[in-house]
Amino acid sequence: MTQTPLDEVYRKTFHVFPNDNPADIMKYYNKNGTTYDSTMKTMTYIAPDVAAQKAASLVSDKQKENFKLLDLGAGTGLSGAALRRSGFLGNISALDGSAEMLKVATEKGIYSDSTEHILTSSNPLPYPDHSFEMVVSVATFTKHLMEPDCLEEVLRVLKPHSYMIITIRMYSEVQDYKVRFYDELDRLEAAGLMKICSSEKFPYYKWDKISDEFKVNLADQYGDVLVLQKLDIN
Ligand SMILES: C[S@@+](CC[C@H](N)C(=O)[O-])C[C@H]1O[C@@H](n2cnc3c(N)ncnc32)[C@H](O)[C@@H]1O
Repeated sequence: MTQTPLDEVYRKTFHVFPNDNPADIMKYYNKNGTTYDSTMKTMTYIAPDVAAQKAASLVSDKQKENFKLLDLGAGTGLSGAALRRSGFLGNISALDGSAEMLKVATEKGIYSDSTEHILTSSNPLPYPDHSFEMVVSVATFTKHLMEPDCLEEVLRVLKPHSYMIITIRMYSEVQDYKVRFYDELDRLEAAGLMKICSSEKFPYYKWDKISDEFKVNLADQYGDVLVLQKLDIN
C-alpha cells in the first residue's frame, strides 16, 4: 500500500526507544538531527509555538526584551525560533544532549549560547543558581528523555517567582511516567518549592489522516502546556 508522507514519518519517528540509556537516546537524536524539522512539519507539530505564546502571555513587553531564558532540550531550535517570533529578544541559552540537534540549532543563529549536556539527577545543569528569568522546555519531559526527578534541578537555575513552561504528551505507552511526573509535581508543591499556575490541553500533532494500519489512538495526539512558578523559599 502507498504510504503518505505522514505515514512514513510516523513509522520512522514513533518507534520505541531501545532502552533508557541516555547515550543510546542521544544516538537516536544525533541520527535524526538533519531530518527532524521536516519530520515535525509533516506531523503538524505546534508545541513550540504553543509554549512560546504561553511564555509571552506571562510577561510584559519590556521583560520580553530583556529576559534571560533557557531553552532546555532545545533540539534543532524550533522552540528557540518560536520564542523569538513571540518577541523574546534577550539572551536565550540552548541546552541539549545531542550534538547533531544542537548543530542544526546553532546554524539558525537564534541562541546566545549553546551547551551540549545530558541532564540527569546525577548530572546537574551547568549553570549557577538563579541564572534564568524563565525556562522553556518543549517535548523533553517524557519517558526515556528527562526524568521527573530533574524538575527540582531546573527550579534551582530559575530566579524566585520565575516561570517554567513545559509541554508534555502523556500518550498511552507512557502512563507509568505520567504517574511519576505528577507525583513529583505534587511533592515539589507540597514542599513549597513551586506551584502549578495552569495546565491546558492542546493538539500537539495532527494525526487524523494516519493510515488505520498504525491503530493510532487519536487521543495521543494531544498534550498539555504547563506553567510552573518557582516560589521564593529556595
Ligand atoms: C522531542 S525533542 C524536542 C526538541 C525541541 N524542544 C522541539 O520542541 O523541537 C527532545 C530533545 O531533548 C533532548 N534531550 C532528551 N533528553 C535529554 C536530556 N536528558 N538532557 C538533555 N537533552 C535531552 C534530545 O536530544 C532532543 O533534542
